[in-house]
Amino acid sequence: MAKTIQAIRGMNDCAPTESPLWQWVEDKVRNVLQSYGYSEVRMPIVESTPLFARAIGEVTDVVSKEMYTFWDNDEQLTLRPEGTAGCVRAAIEHGWIYNNEQRLWYMGPMFRHERPQKGRYRQFHQAGVEVFGIANPEIDAELILLTARLWKELGIDQHVSLQLNSIGSLEARKNYRSALVEFLQQHIDLLSDEEKERLEKNPLRILDSKNQALQEVLNGAPKLLDYLDEESRTHFAQLCTLLDEMGIAYEVNPKLVRGLDYYNKTVFEWVTSALGAQGTVCGGGRYDGLVEQLGGHATTGVGFAMGLERLVLLVQEVNQHIDLPRAVDIYVVHTGEGTTLPAFQLAEKLRTNLPHLRTMTHCSGGNFKKQFKRADKVGAKFALVIGESEAQNQQVVVKDLLGGEQQVLAQADVVDFLKTAF
Ligand code: HAM
Repeated sequence: MAKTIQAIRGMNDCAPTESPLWQWVEDKVRNVLQSYGYSEVRMPIVESTPLFARAIGEVTDVVSKEMYTFWDNDEQLTLRPEGTAGCVRAAIEHGWIYNNEQRLWYMGPMFRHERPQKGRYRQFHQAGVEVFGIANPEIDAELILLTARLWKELGIDQHVSLQLNSIGSLEARKNYRSALVEFLQQHIDLLSDEEKERLEKNPLRILDSKNQALQEVLNGAPKLLDYLDEESRTHFAQLCTLLDEMGIAYEVNPKLVRGLDYYNKTVFEWVTSALGAQGTVCGGGRYDGLVEQLGGHATTGVGFAMGLERLVLLVQEVNQHIDLPRAVDIYVVHTGEGTTLPAFQLAEKLRTNLPHLRTMTHCSGGNFKKQFKRADKVGAKFALVIGESEAQNQQVVVKDLLGGEQQVLAQADVVDFLKTAF
């Protein structure tokens, strides 16, 4: 036999048994987004490499070591590692945000060359939201309300919690950065080689170090919240008040800085302890300077993205009450001279009149026993049976595959019968 070829490490297939749960999760996401009036956008999976370098930041992990980049003749291209950069590029290019507010969402695959483990993959899927042209904290609160509603819909709301912070303006971060570097230099022996490198390039990322001893020292480090500019401070206070009034629980986490460089003011993450190390199911924040940085007219932005693999895992872990639709409701069985055409015609009639039901016609021949076995295997509730005599008399045997009873009906009456049976 020829040698088989395997999928790329960290890039998963979605099996036919798994796709119903994925569809269920995706439908919930879509319905919630649409219930807030957001519009879907679809961007290419491949973009020009400098877009990500400029938007996400050269010294971030994503850009410095995780991108899938290749040359296409003399142009360098990258498989998108996230959706914000492409969405901003598209919004500028097509004038969607010129003197206009936009509340947009997207869903699709993203690519990062990370070390795969549970909840972390090289091809993963995000549902993301980007809102442009609304500067005040009401929209930050709306995004958080929207995600909170989605967690309820998915039945995971008791298993996720909200972490919130403000990282202020660029100027405020610069001041804070000097204070933090000065503090960390006093504890330099606790830093790993990678963290020492970060101390130079991106010291704020040291705040979310996994090193326990360093984390304890960091509890005494200067707090970013104490360095905030007045505008960011007011913005954050207004957001917190609104969340309090709307009954959304959160924890202010002064060490939350996020891993992408475009953020300012609000940043947030929804985290769970039910998935092990990869516990962030959704992350986002404001990026008021990004549109201008990418060549557009100054326009504020705020958004988030959630990891669909992590949501599916979490739903599997904590929500046992999902009623997923069966793949097949009705299985049309037929054997003998002149039975194929009436079987096909009956199945088409059901699909026209009962479009919410899933009707499958047996196509691979064999006797009734073999066909009933298939009907059971695909999980159908009813088999509709057409043998030679049923074909001649325009009848059909309706067999309840769960209960076992069967009855003979005129083909003309089957639609009405099934209407009451489902
Ligand atoms: P991010 O925090 O890099 O933000 O990713 C958002 C979410 O995507 C994470 O919280 C996680 O659930 C999921 N995720 C990230 N990497 C992986 C991976 N390797 N495997 C599985 N899931 C993963 C962004 O991407 C920003 N663009 C979010 C945003 C939109 N901010 C403003 N607007």
